[in-house]
Amino acid sequence: MPERTWIRWPEGRGTPFGYGADYNPEQWPRETWLEDVRLMREAGVTIVSLGIFAWSLLEPRDGAFDFSLLDDVMDLLHEHGVAVDLATATASPPAWLVTAHPDMRPVDAEGRVLGFGGRQSICPSSPVYRHHSLRLVRALAEHVRDHPALALWHVNNEFGCHNAHCYCDTSAAAFRAWLRARHGTIAALNDAWATSFWSQRYGTWDEIVPPRLAPTFCNPGQQLDFFRFSSDAHVEQYLAEAAVLHEVTPDVPVTTNFMNTGGTKWLDYLGWGAHVDVVSNDHYLQEPSPHPEAELAFSADLTRGCARGKPWMLMEQSTSAVNWGRINRAKDPGELWRNSLSQVGRGADAICYFQWRASAGGAEKFHSAMVPHAGSDTRVFREVTEQGRRLAALAEVQGSVVANDVALLFDFEAWWASELDSHPHNGFSYRREAERLYVPLWRRGVGVDVVHPDADLSGYRLVLVPALYLVADGLAPRLEAFAAAGGTVLVTFFSGIVDVTDRVRLGGYPGAFRDLLGVRVEEFRPLRPGCAATLSDGSRALDWSEDLSAPDAAARLTYADGVLAGRPAVTRRQAGAGSAWYVSCDLQPDAAASVLDAVLADAGVTALAEADDALELTRRVHADGRAYLFAINHSGADAALHAGGTDLLTGAIHEARVVVPAGGTVVLRIGG
Ligand code: GLA
Repeated sequence: MPERTWIRWPEGRGTPFGYGADYNPEQWPRETWLEDVRLMREAGVTIVSLGIFAWSLLEPRDGAFDFSLLDDVMDLLHEHGVAVDLATATASPPAWLVTAHPDMRPVDAEGRVLGFGGRQSICPSSPVYRHHSLRLVRALAEHVRDHPALALWHVNNEFGCHNAHCYCDTSAAAFRAWLRARHGTIAALNDAWATSFWSQRYGTWDEIVPPRLAPTFCNPGQQLDFFRFSSDAHVEQYLAEAAVLHEVTPDVPVTTNFMNTGGTKWLDYLGWGAHVDVVSNDHYLQEPSPHPEAELAFSADLTRGCARGKPWMLMEQSTSAVNWGRINRAKDPGELWRNSLSQVGRGADAICYFQWRASAGGAEKFHSAMVPHAGSDTRVFREVTEQGRRLAALAEVQGSVVANDVALLFDFEAWWASELDSHPHNGFSYRREAERLYVPLWRRGVGVDVVHPDADLSGYRLVLVPALYLVADGLAPRLEAFAAAGGTVLVTFFSGIVDVTDRVRLGGYPGAFRDLLGVRVEEFRPLRPGCAATLSDGSRALDWSEDLSAPDAAARLTYADGVLAGRPAVTRRQAGAGSAWYVSCDLQPDAAASVLDAVLADAGVTALAEADDALELTRRVHADGRAYLFAINHSGADAALHAGGTDLLTGAIHEARVVVPAGGTVVLRIGG
């Protein structure tokens, strides 16, 4: 199989840092294209994503293809040194196709058809869509296969952004076929879904439907399997498109843009990452948020987990405001660069945007871009151009990897299952709980890898297991072995509760992890808004507490009031050469931070460098020992970094201490 591990840069271009945007020339007259390529040069743009929403232009009538605009634009870009990440254009079907085949439109859980006029008006299981999309992909690939600008394929766009789940009859039939493959027999399905409850036993496959709107909660096994099926349906479309591309252009790598950002949860990207040549991600700051930069960092670390540690591509972010929030904040001066550098420091070897030039019309005309409505004489374009210069200065960082001591286990299936309805606390948020552990480490400059529970844990000192409600059978023994060999494990509440069929592991919570942690929980005691549990050190927990005993662990903190007074709240078990900690309540930031300090000390994990609190730190390393320390100052005051090396951005050599100016950044080459 050909090596397809990164952008295939055109001959003679070397390996520049990837820098660019979605480029939509079809929205502009040809004169504008000439200005575009001139400005792209000025800004140091090296790659653009072309044709993402161009299906109606490339195939204006059924089977009649017209690639002339694409030819002209690709030629022009190539002449001006810009490579092309070419989209398969299958993300939004043309009106003629949806009109001819209205049954390809997605249907929501309430039976409402989501019609044409937005985008992604697609049932992911529609054979009509599959046929027409693959026909387009083949025609396009055969047409451009030898174009020198073709550097990467961009399959579809943000799969499932608006059509993650479709409940139509076509999807129902595909769901049944998927269930047969997973469960084999109807008896096995009945068992997995616990259908004895509420008289839900199925006699034949044909009786099964997606979890459509019902008089009350749908069966949780049915919901969970439907979420798995739906994620797989999108992956299947990806694989079908990628197979055509690999056949026609075997040397060109293929990507599709993931959405590891905020609460986007419906595609299992950690699994999907194994199927793409280059992992790419779209990230938009979540606002309002108590810590938008930490959320960005978490998303980037998760994306690296999807890429199995390899460099990845930031495919989309915004230069300034988005247009889909209630009030869309413009980014502050310097923020654009700080956002990008955080992602470079976390393994991104390409930084791109939605989009190159702000649209004059259409639904996203108020979304920021590299070239704003006001043109190139703007703060944003000046920052874009400065960023191009800085990324070029970071070229040598490419290919290096991030190697951290801490792993945080994250699982999309556990996310889906833990937020199903009729749970002990229905305000529970898996992502929030994961970030609650992550943020204090981010603040301390401790590097964290966000990885799937099946990942190899042997290189880590500390494994964090936040609120991992659903766990497969193999994880607890692996964590036990990890601890026995000297590792430290920290598990937080509502973990280990169910198996992969969402059936409770009996005998006391936290089910799968009872022996590992040496605790036994008899009852969850979620807390109502306004209520808190006080702990023995005076700190407070909100939202969640548990009635537990610790037969094989020491209580490090106990509950101090109410019916739980005197019972363990935070425990530590000496597990062989290592330790296993349990936090049974939702600790508030200060308390969580002090528990984490003790856990870090146990694990022997320290910050990536000594530095003032305001600095975000990350580190990348080459196999030959050259390492890079990234420091980002998110505050309004100068901050000190106690490290020496050459600053790649300025060329300055620092002995042992660098002042990172307010809002500024430093990238030190250290060693090697
Ligand atoms: C997504 C899409 C883009 C655009 C941006 C706007 O990331 O992929 O086409 O809609 O959102 O934020």
